[in-house]
Amino acid sequence: SSAGKVIKCKAAVLWGLEQPFSIEEIEVAPPKAHEVRIKILATGICRTDNNATTGVMPAKFPVIVGHEAVGIVESIGEGVTSLKPGDKVIPLCVPQCGICSNCLKPDSNYCDMLDIVGKGVLSDGTSRFTCKGKPVYHYMNTSTFTEYTVVRDVAVAKIDAAAPPEKACLFGCAFTTGYGAAINTAKVTPGSTCAVFGLGGVGLSVIIGCKIAGASRIIGVDINPRKFEKAKAVGATECVNPKDHTKPISEVLKEMTGDSVRYTFEVTGNLDTMIDALASCHKNCGMSVVVGDPPASSVLTFDPMLVFDGRTWKGCIFGGWKPVNDLPKLVSDFMAKKFNLDELVTHILPFDKIEEGFNLLKKGESIRTVLTF
Ligand code: NAI
Ligand code: ZN
Repeated sequence: SSAGKVIKCKAAVLWGLEQPFSIEEIEVAPPKAHEVRIKILATGICRTDNNATTGVMPAKFPVIVGHEAVGIVESIGEGVTSLKPGDKVIPLCVPQCGICSNCLKPDSNYCDMLDIVGKGVLSDGTSRFTCKGKPVYHYMNTSTFTEYTVVRDVAVAKIDAAAPPEKACLFGCAFTTGYGAAINTAKVTPGSTCAVFGLGGVGLSVIIGCKIAGASRIIGVDINPRKFEKAKAVGATECVNPKDHTKPISEVLKEMTGDSVRYTFEVTGNLDTMIDALASCHKNCGMSVVVGDPPASSVLTFDPMLVFDGRTWKGCIFGGWKPVNDLPKLVSDFMAKKFNLDELVTHILPFDKIEEGFNLLKKGESIRTVLTF
């Protein structure tokens, strides 16, 4: 077996900002205490990975990004009790240590480990990846654009062994985030009207959540009209392109709905859209949820009357789920056909074609591209 030995394999390394993904042979060290080494089976491409290549989301270079995957545990380090070789798993960008004060709160998923796992190294301050004799850093605890990765055991969810990797990988980010934003964060009520700004993989998952929660009207908002067909296929009742209007989008939505938009979701990561989404929900009883990642160190100025009048402005990480507990259940719901992820996966490419996958994202042609190994 490969346990305890260095594994040589292929990975997509980013050597610096704005550099292409370079497929390299890397060495992956065995897992240390409370770590697991995972063989990746499938991994999706998310906007957040692209944000690492542009600097919108900070990363330490050279780096292996990727955070939406399904894999199989290859070996475990000392002290790992919750996982064993052969388990089908999802590496988590949001950990759940289970013992910190936040994990103990029933309504928080901001595990104390979250601020540590994103540092680009594992617990001993070093990386498990090397390439051409140099250390290569981790990303968001996950680093899934590689045949093998090493992650902390507190950030791994064990899932149904029968789950299809090229769909179930979406539980590592897009689906879990968007669905949870509707179900857990907004707690969308039956019969309500919702508006979703940004119709990528995460936004479409918000729509699926709104629909399952019983929303009667779901309005998709995007500046790329090529996204409308998919949005309608997953549950949007109508779609609007802000570019087709001279009035602010909040006015357009108000007129369309007789001022009854109850929930709005920002799923683009643009600062202006965060204000637009806030202004678009009902001024007194509306709620707006920030799901898109704001650019690092950005500052937003807004009219305080927008909240003074009564609106609620919320955010969520990873859809508010406690991932180690909740992901296995979400995957079971998927296996029981509670929801369908077929519309979200528009492209499946071999891992070597990662650059092509990112080009599809940048050109707005894909919802999710999933890379398989
Ligand atoms: P994506 O790039 O696939 O989709 C974004 C969509 O927004 C595109 O269809 C684009 O045309 C649209 N858009 C861009 N600017 C717009 C504007 N001004 N008005 C209306 N629509 C606009 O992105 P993806 O992967 O769906 O991610 C969406 C956001 O969610 C990103 O910011 C990502 O970083 C963030 N994210 C947040 C997570 C969390 O835990 N809160 C987890 C995962 C992603
Ligand atoms: Zn993501």
